[in-house]
Formats: sequence, structure tokens, C-alpha cells
Amino acid sequence: MPLDQALIPLESIIFALSEALDSVDPRVAKHQIRVSYLARLLGRQLGFKGPELEALVIAAALHDLGLFTFKEKQLAFDEIPGVLKKHAQLGYHMLRRFPFLRRSAEFILHHHTPWKELCRNTDHFTALGGNIIHLADRIEVRARVLRPLLLYAPSLLEDLGALKEEFAPELLQALRELGEKDIFWLRLERLRSETEVTFQVEYSTYLTCRDLVSLAALFALVVDLKSPFTRIHSAAVARLAVWLGEEMGFRDYLRDQLLVAGYLHDLGKLSVPESILDKAGPLTPQEWAVMKAHPFVTYRILERIPHFEVINFWASSHHERLDGKGYPARLTARELSLGARILAVADITTALIEDRPYRRGMPPEKVSRILNDLSGSALDPRLVALVIRHLDHVGSLIREVQEERLGHMEALGYL
Ligand SMILES: [Fe+2]
Ligand SMILES: [Fe+2]
Ligand SMILES: [Fe+2]
Repeated sequence: MPLDQALIPLESIIFALSEALDSVDPRVAKHQIRVSYLARLLGRQLGFKGPELEALVIAAALHDLGLFTFKEKQLAFDEIPGVLKKHAQLGYHMLRRFPFLRRSAEFILHHHTPWKELCRNTDHFTALGGNIIHLADRIEVRARVLRPLLLYAPSLLEDLGALKEEFAPELLQALRELGEKDIFWLRLERLRSETEVTFQVEYSTYLTCRDLVSLAALFALVVDLKSPFTRIHSAAVARLAVWLGEEMGFRDYLRDQLLVAGYLHDLGKLSVPESILDKAGPLTPQEWAVMKAHPFVTYRILERIPHFEVINFWASSHHERLDGKGYPARLTARELSLGARILAVADITTALIEDRPYRRGMPPEKVSRILNDLSGSALDPRLVALVIRHLDHVGSLIREVQEERLGHMEALGYL
């Protein structure tokens, strides 16, 4: 089904991204999914339903969106004050411009604010939503190191119950009621997948193609900001891919599919530690093995989103080569569709022009030379010829993306 006619459930994308964001290290794995599970139960107990419950569950699944690196995530786990306030605000600013995520953004803004402060300045349900995520977050961080959880649950309940300035009285009451049942803790300890979280939400937002493109652009920002050397990478790849597609006659929804594939092609890098992404020297065989997995991780994340088959193939094949020597599937020219070839050329061209941890961005002559060397063996010769013929234009497209990105980061208060 063409993308412009497909309806994609918002949750399917949010949960795919949520899990990817926490996949960088076992110490944070599934953190947001588990917080989302807890937030749903606490929210229902306190009367959240329909769109409000959906917004709460989504907010919980993305509450740490403003933490880009593993290091930052760990500081937030340890409740280091400066980090807490900053990432809550950043997450809010990132999501609030999407009408369908506005409510979730408001909950995220307050997910580290003590109740004592919150109840005075914010309307009741917004404050309560933020406070639910706050409590769910604290339960999750502590519970993940307690084994078997059932043994420690009573003392966990007691510790959290004493934090009367931090959490709303009715929220602590709701936790006591839920926590009396073993199944509450057993489910948390053995949470299988997001289906257990979304189950019984009873309301779902569907995305249009336009919404999807703008949401993909946001995820591109999250992937790019993980390393100072890729600050515009995914956005630039998306822009180049669309330009190449237009030159090759792609129109309308195909053009949007290229844009989304470009934005999301390196989603798998969320699972690569920044020590590898930012390394100035050559990677060790072990580091390279981790790095090399990233297009397959992209595939795995996107596989969970309905109607994404084509986008997924284009996105996750960006390191394949026409001669069958690429990775991860060693596909050959016969198997690589034009969309996949476009992504590969857009990716390499952008990478050559950008600064990398181990070298500066390359001048146009050098870019042309390298692309020419790869033409026919790795890359589609028609596409390489296009890029080389219009290298000035390509440079200006990338500069445009750079300026937009800077403006965007400034607007978010990130700079
Ligand atoms: Fe947080
Ligand atoms: Fe968190
Ligand atoms: Fe890549």
C-alpha cells in the first residue's frame, strides 16, 4: 500500500524508537518501555482514560528523549539535578510542536519536578501525569537491580511511600493498591514487549504521511546529536536522497518515502556506544563488529512498524554494494532497487563532505575522485554522475541543512 494511504499507529513508531533509544547498554535497556508499563497502570488507577491515557503512555515511553548519550542517561539514573531539569525541558520542546504529541510533551516537562512544587503551579491532571512518570521512573530505576523483585517489593514500597514531598498523596495510594498484588511486580520483572504496555489503552492516534515525515525528522535529530561528528548527517542524507530521487523521476509519496528512509537510515546507531562513534583512531575488530551491526539494527527497529517494508529496505541497505561486497546482507546489483541505491549514494556523499572524528570534511575534487572510484563497483554510475555533475548544488543543499539544523537546535535551547 502506498504510504500516503496507509494509516500508521502512533504507538508502533513510538515504542520502536523508545526501545532503540535504550538499547545502547544493558544498564538502561528497556528503561522507558518499563516506565511506560508502570505509568499505564498508575494512570488507569487514577482515572486516566482514552486520549489522556494514550498521551501518558507515550510520554512515559519517550520521557528521556532529551538524553542523547549513554553518559547523560546514567547521570539521570543517579538523579544529578542539572541533568534532570535540562532533559525534561529539552524533551518538552522537541515534542510540543507536534499537535499529536503536545499533551505527552506537557507530561514530560514535569517528570522530575517534586509534587510539592508542581501542585502549586500546574493544572491538576497535567501535574498528576508528570508525577506519575516521575514515580514510575523511580520505581523502574530501583527495581531493575533487585532480584527477585518480589522479595524487595515491600521495602521499595516503603521507601517511595516516605517521599511525600516528591509524589502526590493519591499517587502513592494508587501505588500501594497496585503493589499489594504480586502480579504487578512479576509483570514488571518479566515484561516481554510493548504489547503488554499498550494493551487496554483503548485509544489510538493514526499518523498521516505528513506527520510521519515530521516525526522521522525528529528521530533524525536524536540520532545525529548522539555524536558531535554526525550533527547533521541523517538530515543531510534525507535531503540528498530526495534530490536524487526527484532527478530520477520519483514523485509524491515515493519522494516522502525517500525522505523518511534518509532520516531513519542510521537509527541503528542508537545502539552503538559514543566511545565508538566518536573514536578518533581506527576501530579495533571488536568495535568494528559493534559498529557494523547498525544497519541491521535499523532493520530490526523499522520492521516493527506497519507499512514500512519499502522504507525499511531502502534505509537498512545503505551499506550494501552493487558488487555484493557490502553489508549486512551482501546483496547484489540485481537485488538493490533504485531507492536503496539512492540511499547508498546519499550516505557516502554526505559522509565524505562532513567532518569525521578521524579526518576533516573533504574538498569537492577529492569527493569526486572517491565517488568515481566507487562508481559501478559499489555505487550506481547514473547516480554518481548526477552528484559529480552537480557537486556545487549538493554542497549548497548540505549547507542549507546545516543552517536549518543550527536554527532548530537553537530554538530547542540545545546550543
Ligand atoms: Fe528523566
Ligand atoms: Fe527515566
Ligand atoms: Fe550507516
